[in-house]
Amino acid sequence: MLPPADSLAPEWLVVPEDANDLPPAVWPASAARDRDGALVLAGVAATDLARTFGTPLLVLDEDEVRSRARAFRSAFDAAAADSGTTAQVYYAGKAFLSTTVARWVVDEGLRVDVCTGGELEVALAAGVAPASLGFHGNNKSVRELERAVEVGVGSIIVDSAIEIERLAAITARTGATQRVLVRVISGVHAETHEFLATAHEDQKFGFPLPDAAQAVARIREIPGLDFAGLHCHIGSQIFGVAGFRESASRILDLHAALLDGGAVPQLNLGGGFGIAYTSVDDPTPIETLAGEIVAAVAEGCAARGIDVPALSFEPGRAIVGTAGVTLYEVGTTKDVELGSGIVRRYISVDGGMSDNARTALYGAQFSARLASRVGDGDPQLSRVVGKHCESGDIVVDHEYLPGDVAPGDLLAVPATGAYCASLASNYNHVPRPPIVSVRDGRATVIVRGETVADLLSRDAGIDAAGSAPSDR
Ligand SMILES: Cc1ncc(COP(=O)(O)O)c(C=O)c1O
Repeated sequence: MLPPADSLAPEWLVVPEDANDLPPAVWPASAARDRDGALVLAGVAATDLARTFGTPLLVLDEDEVRSRARAFRSAFDAAAADSGTTAQVYYAGKAFLSTTVARWVVDEGLRVDVCTGGELEVALAAGVAPASLGFHGNNKSVRELERAVEVGVGSIIVDSAIEIERLAAITARTGATQRVLVRVISGVHAETHEFLATAHEDQKFGFPLPDAAQAVARIREIPGLDFAGLHCHIGSQIFGVAGFRESASRILDLHAALLDGGAVPQLNLGGGFGIAYTSVDDPTPIETLAGEIVAAVAEGCAARGIDVPALSFEPGRAIVGTAGVTLYEVGTTKDVELGSGIVRRYISVDGGMSDNARTALYGAQFSARLASRVGDGDPQLSRVVGKHCESGDIVVDHEYLPGDVAPGDLLAVPATGAYCASLASNYNHVPRPPIVSVRDGRATVIVRGETVADLLSRDAGIDAAGSAPSDR
């Protein structure tokens, strides 16, 4: 018989032997506890970070980002070499982009994938060579396309027939030649261990496979466009290779057919490689994934009697996700009686859905640990919630935390490096937190926190002296 509170726990959640442990798959490799029991990241104590920068605070472990970028690079290099081809790894900037992070990943040999004019400007401001950028998006504006062509973006991944005509007009006007890939929908949608394969997938991105040949034929007619190959992204937080294999097999039929009309030098299979958010997640090592995916493409090419194209991949979450840890201060705790003796413990922290929308948006699961000390209380099923005016403002839906968590404690939520800061908002006029990198015992602000002045600065009802016109 489970104790009453545990009847609220999802089946997958196990009661930890030690609710202060730091499961290695979920935390950056540098995570440890110091003699006082405080969480330490890359040699910097969470207590010092909170004292210096305040909370909430997103902490990014630089070595974790760099070593993951290196691991992807070398895994795909090795796998591609085994199949007689080459592979490029683009960091998907949508996961989290700042100039500092862009420089780290480029340093480690990655290229960068951007999907809006804003991301493009951040990458350019970081000094990323335009030729090593890929530009995505289902609704790139004419202005965004003009800018991309003007700066010499390496490839534009075209998403619609209208975009092809926009690029035709831009290249005709400027005399530029632009390399493009065509994004296709393979009908395979994958998430975690499952994938769904359909003839038609109902989504806004790319060309359905049956329409793609016509798009390529049109591109080949346009003097200013250089057709480089096909692109497909099948989903996110994928643990196995089955979805990639099925998708590649479908795309290779089209790839082979397109060779009749000219060269098809590249194939980009997108991103989506999963990470551990909780201790039950067990992602496949990248060396295994890279080897199996590239081997599947090579086998598919051999079966069709064609050369293996140059390959590219676009991991985002798997590069930066595990490197991020968000620190919060506990404000209140509350035990809510749900009837029949069942009690849910709510732990409210000083951030929430404005710095981590993933739980509210997708029902994502996270884990949490006390960060300022080790707790003494027995593991207690808890829900970590934010300070926003939404009952869905949940940061960690289910976690066993020490029963003595109290106001003033610091909580750390790991695996928040991807799609947290990049999805952050100012909901309820809560300023977005600073982002600091940590390495070798030092912390550096890489994105400063928003201030109340920032929040007020866009409000046209306030004059330079800070008062509303009606006050005058
Ligand atoms: C085209 C494309 N490439 C790469 C990615 C990165 O995915 P992930 O961060 O899951 O690796 C995405 C994410 O949505 C995407 O849409």
